[in-house]
Amino acid sequence: MIEPSLDTTRTAYDSVAVLYADTFRNVLDDSPLDRAMIGAFAELVRAGGGQVADLGCGPGRLTAHLHSLGASAFGIDLSPTMIELARRDHPGLRFEEGSMTALDLADGSVDGVLAWYSVIHMRPEELPTVFAEFGRVLAPGGHLLLGFFTTDDDSPDPAVPFDHKVTTAYRLSIDHVAALAREAGLVELARMRREPRDNERFLQGHLLVRKPAQPA
Ligand SMILES: C[S@@+](CC[C@H](N)C(=O)[O-])C[C@H]1O[C@@H](n2cnc3c(N)ncnc32)[C@H](O)[C@@H]1O
Repeated sequence: MIEPSLDTTRTAYDSVAVLYADTFRNVLDDSPLDRAMIGAFAELVRAGGGQVADLGCGPGRLTAHLHSLGASAFGIDLSPTMIELARRDHPGLRFEEGSMTALDLADGSVDGVLAWYSVIHMRPEELPTVFAEFGRVLAPGGHLLLGFFTTDDDSPDPAVPFDHKVTTAYRLSIDHVAALAREAGLVELARMRREPRDNERFLQGHLLVRKPAQPA
């Protein structure tokens, strides 16, 4: 299986952006457990100031959902076509091209980071850089929520590649994602592993972490 580079991922999402947007536009409506985690995240972030970066926002469906929950959300994505669609579908919101490996955001500038199925294509060795970026841009007391495909508890591998329809992706163990967050100075608040729904192939993992108000 070929390991994806940022260029591979960008080109792959550019080529499927319209289909992706149409397929996933209303999926959250059928996912009460996902909405519960995102709702709790939005509530925590609102209490802290409300600025949220939706990193790997795709066509902006989660950016718009967070906005509807009262958070000042903006989106960043690697794929220019995704950003074009996000701007078209959500003209009142801000979307910019960029990579979560090197964010054009100041230190401590956001109260929340959402990475919803957007770290899944990162090579395992790139993940510490991405988590360091999450930790850098979060304000003290800020929150990070991740969604990803996950593994069984007894899986020996923390990152298991699979043939995702767009480009190679990885299932990540929740313990591994929690360890990456911890190494970036973030503290776990909650985790959820839910069963796949009818049209899903894998267990789904959600992890909510927080940057301490004072450095440890
Ligand atoms: C599976 S889609 C999820 C999109 C959106 N979060 C959603 O749930 O609808 C993954 C998205 O992450 C973006 N992405 C992947 N790697 C990225 C990176 N390094 N920086 C920014 N975006 C990235 C892709 O371009 C794609 O739009």
